[in-house]
Amino acid sequence: MMKKIILLLFLAILGCKSNEKVTLPTGLVTDKAMVVSAREEASSIGVELMKKGGNAFDAMVATELALAVSYPQAGNIGGGGFMVYRKANGETGALDYREKAPLAATKDMFLDKDGNVIEGKSTATALASGVPGTIAGIFEVHKKFGSLPISEILAPVIALAQRGVIVTQQQAQSLAEYKTAFIKANGTNSLFSAAYKAGDTIKYPALANTLKRIAQNGRDEFYKGETAQKLIAFLSKKGGTMTLEDLNKYQAKWRTPITFQYKDLKITSMSPPSSGGICLNQIMKMIEPYNLSEMGHNSQKAIQLITEAERRAYADRNYFLGDPDFVKLPLKELVDPSYLKKRMSNFSFDKASKSSDIANGEIKGYESKQTTHYSIVDAAGNAVSVTTTLNDNYGSKIYCDELGFFLNNQMDDFSAKPGVPNLYGLTGTKANSIAPEKRMLSSMTPTIVEKNGKLFMVVGTPGGSTIITSVLQTIFNVYEFNMSMQEAVDAPRFHHQWLPDEITFEPSSFAKDLLENLNKKGYHINEKNNQIIGQVDAILVLPNGKLEGGADKRGDNKSVGF
Ligand code: DON
Repeated sequence: MMKKIILLLFLAILGCKSNEKVTLPTGLVTDKAMVVSAREEASSIGVELMKKGGNAFDAMVATELALAVSYPQAGNIGGGGFMVYRKANGETGALDYREKAPLAATKDMFLDKDGNVIEGKSTATALASGVPGTIAGIFEVHKKFGSLPISEILAPVIALAQRGVIVTQQQAQSLAEYKTAFIKANGTNSLFSAAYKAGDTIKYPALANTLKRIAQNGRDEFYKGETAQKLIAFLSKKGGTMTLEDLNKYQAKWRTPITFQYKDLKITSMSPPSSGGICLNQIMKMIEPYNLSEMGHNSQKAIQLITEAERRAYADRNYFLGDPDFVKLPLKELVDPSYLKKRMSNFSFDKASKSSDIANGEIKGYESKQTTHYSIVDAAGNAVSVTTTLNDNYGSKIYCDELGFFLNNQMDDFSAKPGVPNLYGLTGTKANSIAPEKRMLSSMTPTIVEKNGKLFMVVGTPGGSTIITSVLQTIFNVYEFNMSMQEAVDAPRFHHQWLPDEITFEPSSFAKDLLENLNKKGYHINEKNNQIIGQVDAILVLPNGKLEGGADKRGDNKSVGF
């Protein structure tokens, strides 16, 4: 009796009808506004601006830059990203501030004279960097939607860079792991070549100065001004070919996002040059005809079904997708219902499909890398979903001490040679080959979900090729498996990307007999140690209109709100 009264009380608080399935929130719940990001410092700066009357877009600018200060492995001004938004009035859109290949880039720039890929050239050299898009991105957002002056938005970020950021346990580990690479790239006198332990404070005076000049002189400071000149001088000393003209020519681009319906959800996600939205669309539509929730979360049948849809979508991704400004993409055809039905027609629960029967290719292993995602909702109901990256952890590892930031190694996201896997084991074809001014194909999947015409979820994650499948599982965890936002984000994940033909499972998270049974069906199981699949940061709008944060337990992620 008592239990029933308590449940009814909860239902009333949550604004649910008693015949609806309820899931109690387990993450931070706030009334009005929230930021969930990879570092508490960044979430707090975004939230403070919204408390002062700023909107979600002001908070985006601040959070993006605060991550550049507090989360140097992926937060950046030397990289790029994508934003998907949904305004309180329901209008949606997307911004592409992805890096571009420099004018001097060539199709075979990472190959030796015999046509073989030169190890490390697309990841750990000054040639690995695409023209950075982040500063163009935030100014574009501010110009279109910002409400507070840029100087006011940047002030707390500059103060953070000056005051410094405390090294967390996770960060100390990460910095130790990469120390040799930093010394190799930058010598022993560079900021990150020193040893840091948890509890130390790292100050960023050079970055603070760069940000001050940007606050004063605007976007052009980075693309034409003193910062541009210093950056190009630095890169050419390191053997790079990026020029002032490359920086001058860089433009962020507003894109039409990918939108589609899954049951009563409307999903809005990133369009090319990211593969995220289109793959998510394909996978969810291939799964829609089945009763997923009845199969059960991470059950054998659910894993089989999701895996087979993923396998088929990634095979298409690697073959067809690239920069829409350079190649014609069959986007309509790829999500055509009869095409997707045909794609799944040879799937059976009896036996694994073989990737070699779906399409051909060769593949090597891949490891966990870094990017970062943050989700924002403001008091008016505007929602912003952003994934931003240097590509690999700390990008190319090349750090410009004078300006205070790492350079990306996003050129590795191109297909250096057809069929040869990149850092994430992804292969590509002509559609994603290198060309001057072309954008490299991405997997980043900043996503916004509506339910019955109302904002429902803001979601995204890092994780290279595993981004798309982590976003997918998070949406399913809430919608099909009735988890709270925090539970959905923390739940163990698995991943299949066509090639290599294996399912990657987070270690020690799945039952032995489940894996054995899958293996008997013909699935290759990879339960690598230390393999983390994504770090999802998401916000769910609860039935009573409050917000629940999902800050992934896999990192220092934090929900902050009011
Ligand atoms: O754009 C992409 O798909 C990759 N450069 C993202 C890299 C990434 O997520 C690394 N993170 N863990």
